[in-house]
Amino acid sequence: MASYNLKINGKAVAVTVDDDTPLLWVLRDELNLVGTKFGCGIAQCGACTVHLDGTAVRSCSIPMASLEGANITTIEGLSDDKLHPVQEAWKELDVPQCGYCQAGQIMTATSFLKQNPNPNSEQIRTAMNGNLCRCASYNRIEKAVALAAKKMS
Ligand code: FES
Ligand code: FES
Repeated sequence: MASYNLKINGKAVAVTVDDDTPLLWVLRDELNLVGTKFGCGIAQCGACTVHLDGTAVRSCSIPMASLEGANITTIEGLSDDKLHPVQEAWKELDVPQCGYCQAGQIMTATSFLKQNPNPNSEQIRTAMNGNLCRCASYNRIEKAVALAAKKMS
């Protein structure tokens, strides 16, 4: 066991866990930030996506040993009191079906739009390609990312 200091959703947080504990389980089990989901556990589905220093990463596969001092944002911290434009677009286009994958989709989309604020359809598809959705909401996701880009321009 070791103690780690992190910034999570803008707040300083200290946790004591095993070095190899994946960030996902610290978020869910230690901090009750359960918007971040477990899907595959092997960095293949994107359900567990959060931001590490603003970049989308898969929290199921990042051990705490590499995260001392890290700045993490989860779906709960994406915006303060109102919806992020990506969330607004998601709502407007009714993207989720069961909803399980959607926090990860939104975290991937927000990180992508920071790097590429004016993407074409192909770039959106490529960026979102690694986030799986068992309900196959892919068309709506693509449209919502495009709409979010418009809202943010
Ligand atoms: S649970 Fe992390 S990528 Fe699937
Ligand atoms: S909305 Fe059900 S898994 Fe994506």
